[in-house]
Amino acid sequence: MIEILEEAKTGIIEDLKGAEDENALLQIKSKYVGKKGLITELLKSMRDLTPEEKREMGQAINVVKTDIESRIEDKLTEIKESIKAKSLSQEEIDVTLPGRGLPPGGKHPINRVMDEIVYNFERLGFNVAEGPEVELDYYNFEALNIPKDHPARDMQDTFYISDDIVLRTHTSPVQVRVMQKQSPPVKIIAPGKVYRCDSDVSHTPMFHQIEGLLVDKYVTFGNLKSVLTQFIQLTFGKNTNVRFRPSFFPFTEPSAEVDIECTICKGNGCRVCKQTGWLEIMGCGMVDPEVFKSVNYDPDIYTGFAFGMGVERITMLKYGINDIRLFFENDIRFLKQFV
Ligand code: PHE
Repeated sequence: MIEILEEAKTGIIEDLKGAEDENALLQIKSKYVGKKGLITELLKSMRDLTPEEKREMGQAINVVKTDIESRIEDKLTEIKESIKAKSLSQEEIDVTLPGRGLPPGGKHPINRVMDEIVYNFERLGFNVAEGPEVELDYYNFEALNIPKDHPARDMQDTFYISDDIVLRTHTSPVQVRVMQKQSPPVKIIAPGKVYRCDSDVSHTPMFHQIEGLLVDKYVTFGNLKSVLTQFIQLTFGKNTNVRFRPSFFPFTEPSAEVDIECTICKGNGCRVCKQTGWLEIMGCGMVDPEVFKSVNYDPDIYTGFAFGMGVERITMLKYGINDIRLFFENDIRFLKQFV
């Protein structure tokens, strides 16, 4: 038995030298310590020994067994390391391959049109002004010649926060805030969110408006028509026909509504323009002297015009969109069409 043990001790070293992969290693493992392996057989054959011999022999075998096992373990690590080293030296990473990339996001159609409108007014010399969305009743109504019991308040379904604080129902309060801070000449546009308690295919409780105000000496209704016509032709195309229709706003006198030739049927009459051939796109007028009084501008020296338009409506007309709620559903299939 001692001889066999000695043989195993040297044999394993030789065998391991020749092993080149995990498979060979497995075979060696079973040759020595497998179910029918040398060491296992040795342990079995101890049956016939005396207890004294068993103890001695057992110890000797176990020492060799542990040695063999740890040699196999070491060899396994060695083989794995060399496989790894080999593949690292052979593999190449092509750093010039294009990456997977993230698809770029696009601007929301409302922001797109808003930016375009603002840009077109900037080209005409207007500066951008801003005001708060949570607004004092004073700026939203009172200073715009709409006193508390005025029927014009019914036109706008106001969200009241308290008796004198509202969510602004239009961007016109920015006119008053700007004039309070600045003396003429004034030439601003004010884009922003406005709120009205209303909801259907053409109304949402929040929407966007762009306000304009120009005040100076000798400003006339002719100037108003000229600026708005230029703006419309920049935005809707050079040959777009424009008409001004008399209207009423408490803060402008005279007031008008501006129509453009229907973008869908080119004026022939269709469902969108209700067979009229015209689409209303904004309100405007000469600043009412009452508004000038509330900001201490002398109406005998200064005149001015103001206008306001809804961005959702203009976007719908520009792109032929028939439901305003599409803008706020965040449906990627809708938004993707504007990238
Ligand atoms: N503020 C008005 C609206 O919301 C639009 C408007 C602005 C009309 C300026 C005249 C002058 O309907």
